[in-house]
Amino acid sequence: MQKKKNKGAFNNGSLKILNKKFLVTGGAGFLGSHMCDALVNQGASVICVDDLSNGKLANITHLKSNRQFKFYKKNVNDIKQLKPVFKRERPDYVMHYAAMVGVKRTANNPLAVFEDIEGIKNIAGCSKQYQVKKILFTSSSEVYGEPVKLPIAEDDTFNGRWPYSLVKILGEQYFQAYYETYGIPVTIVRFFNVYGPRQDFGDSGFVVSIFLRNGLAGKPLLIYGDGGQTRDFVYADDNIRLTLKSFCNDKVNGRPMNIGSGHSMRIIDLANAVKKKFPKVKILFQPARNKGEIKYRTPDVSFMKKMLKDEPQVSLAEGLDKTLASLQSKRQ
Ligand SMILES: NC(=O)c1ccc[n+]([C@@H]2O[C@H](COP(=O)([O-])OP(=O)(O)OC[C@H]3O[C@@H](n4cnc5c(N)ncnc54)[C@H](O)[C@@H]3O)[C@@H](O)[C@H]2O)c1
Repeated sequence: MQKKKNKGAFNNGSLKILNKKFLVTGGAGFLGSHMCDALVNQGASVICVDDLSNGKLANITHLKSNRQFKFYKKNVNDIKQLKPVFKRERPDYVMHYAAMVGVKRTANNPLAVFEDIEGIKNIAGCSKQYQVKKILFTSSSEVYGEPVKLPIAEDDTFNGRWPYSLVKILGEQYFQAYYETYGIPVTIVRFFNVYGPRQDFGDSGFVVSIFLRNGLAGKPLLIYGDGGQTRDFVYADDNIRLTLKSFCNDKVNGRPMNIGSGHSMRIIDLANAVKKKFPKVKILFQPARNKGEIKYRTPDVSFMKKMLKDEPQVSLAEGLDKTLASLQSKRQ
């Protein structure tokens, strides 16, 4: 007789999601809110913790009446705010998305970025005290800084020098040390450029949403530098599915994984792809933003493909259409 399929289980995962309790920090943000959706859809209970410094209640309002979902407006960098949530909710798993993000925000507040070290320590400490079974740490391609070779593999040199990169490097090491010392497994995912609905499209936002926002407003698409810098773009749904698969796969514990497409593109090509949707909009070149901007970024995704037997499915054209449709629906 065929085994009944459990809607909470991924085929290649050893960890089960159904009826488990997940605490998602940064859950009112872009990626965190999509992860909350995915977990609720897979039959988990979700405790979303966000201080709304960059996240929006609008990203989670559709979940608020769901009995599987609870929201706490708390700052994870403040142990007095975080610990009572752990004490009360006793989550099985923790996914740490909360962080100060965005080139402009992190460049304008380099010292404030270091406050996120407190959040990392608090999440690790509370997870130990309240016997969390596994932690997800969302790291970044920024740990590599300017890559020493392309494509960038997981064991390549950490070349990141900005406070944001340093906090991500430290976070990875911190959770690894907790895994080695106390046996709390950690999944470390290094995201490249993720885009999609709910991404911050203000000035602190990311290139895809800023280009689409400007296109919609009839404003020029600004390129800093010559546009030859490359980035690897992944649509949010693909990122969430791959992240969840890696979290569910115990063979990935403690082994950082690049989550990307492996096919990076030049920013000028991205601008031209967006311009196709807004033919009247101009592309304008501006002086390079700062000396430290990373020029090339292409991930080696062979570890991801081998372990997850999966890779991004949504093409850039399709992803841009979906993101644009979501931006347009917000403007109505
Ligand atoms: N989006 C990407 O392309 C990308 C790439 C690499 C890494 N990441 C990582 O993924 C995670 C999510 O990023 P995102 O793009 O969804 O950003 P986001 O800003 O939309 O989400 C972060 C959320 O964390 C919240 N937050 C920040 N500091 C907090 C604090 N001290 N306490 C509680 N909540 C706090 C914000 O209000 C926001 O809702 C971050 O850790 C980021 O570094 C994202």
